[in-house]
Amino acid sequence: MEYKIAVIQGDGIGPEIVEQGLRVLDKIGQLYGHKFTYTNLLAGGCAIDEKDEPLPAETIEICKKSDAVILGAVGGPKWDNLPGEKRPEKALLGLRGELGLYANLRPAVIYEELKDACPLKPEIIGDSIDIMVVRELTGGIYFGKRGRTKGEKGSEAFDTETYSEAEVERIARIAFQIAQKRRSKVTSVDKANILESSRLWREVVIRVSKDYPGVELDHLYVDNAAMQLIRDPKQFDVIVTSNMFGDILSDEASMITGSIGMLPSASLGYDSFGLYEPIHGSAPDIAGKNMANPIATVLSIAMMLRYSFNLENEAKAVENAVSMVLKNGYRTGDIMSVGMKQVGTKEMGELIMNYIIRDN
Ligand code: IPM
Ligand code: MG
Repeated sequence: MEYKIAVIQGDGIGPEIVEQGLRVLDKIGQLYGHKFTYTNLLAGGCAIDEKDEPLPAETIEICKKSDAVILGAVGGPKWDNLPGEKRPEKALLGLRGELGLYANLRPAVIYEELKDACPLKPEIIGDSIDIMVVRELTGGIYFGKRGRTKGEKGSEAFDTETYSEAEVERIARIAFQIAQKRRSKVTSVDKANILESSRLWREVVIRVSKDYPGVELDHLYVDNAAMQLIRDPKQFDVIVTSNMFGDILSDEASMITGSIGMLPSASLGYDSFGLYEPIHGSAPDIAGKNMANPIATVLSIAMMLRYSFNLENEAKAVENAVSMVLKNGYRTGDIMSVGMKQVGTKEMGELIMNYIIRDN
């Protein structure tokens, strides 16, 4: 089978981590007899430099004709002072909106080998932490009306949080379906004690839950959820929440695992099409120095194999290879600890590639 992949390397460490990810993917292709073809596209700072806009129309067009998109990272200090519409971040929102990627899956897991890096006490971590944050990605305050008006005492500014029943229903269904394949628990996070949009959110989630009787549902206000994530993260399986709350809580969840350089993400829409990117940013300070950790990108590619191409064995082969490399003591600088063997970006990619075996 041939899979057409749009590749957005982006800025900072983007190109080097994507390069390693694609080597791993090519190895999977060889072992399992798939053909992956790549088209490189511009988005973010590099697109601003070359085309004077963060998200050229051509990029969206070609993404739409592809089976999936792999993205490294976008942004950097060089473009920080541009106005809102011209900033690299605009590329991310544009891609999400234009490609209809309404469901953002952000797993927060502790790797057994990296347990020491978790900032929480061992008794709080327990055996493991394995949370899936399902963040609504194309609605809410990120996409609502915003603007400025003249008030009596000077300028005023507003942003609006709007959710329709349909938008809540589709993200809720994704969360319940994912929970069915995990530990069958969904925690819906909102601010229904204050926000009308949250009250609608909660109503719809409760209605949708009736279609998934095997899944336990509870509700938390976002402030309480932020606290519970630190107090007792083991209680969570799937967290489903709005665009803005999901932005904040997914950063918190990733940090409590201590392995932010390791965490992948998937952004999905209606069919199997998806965009896959590491959770971390473009780390301009270490760009081009062969220091970046490519594991989050490699694991994003595993998510692509699983969610867009339905290649579960191939996804597992990639994830197993990452585990083996860690078990054997190899670390990039960001996850280095005493007694381990420090390697660079390329070497880490090479190791993962070499540890991939086809056993099914
Ligand atoms: C994320 C990022 C983006 C967001 C920014 C860079 C626009 O923080 O993907 O979580 O807020 O969605
Ligand atoms: Mg964020």
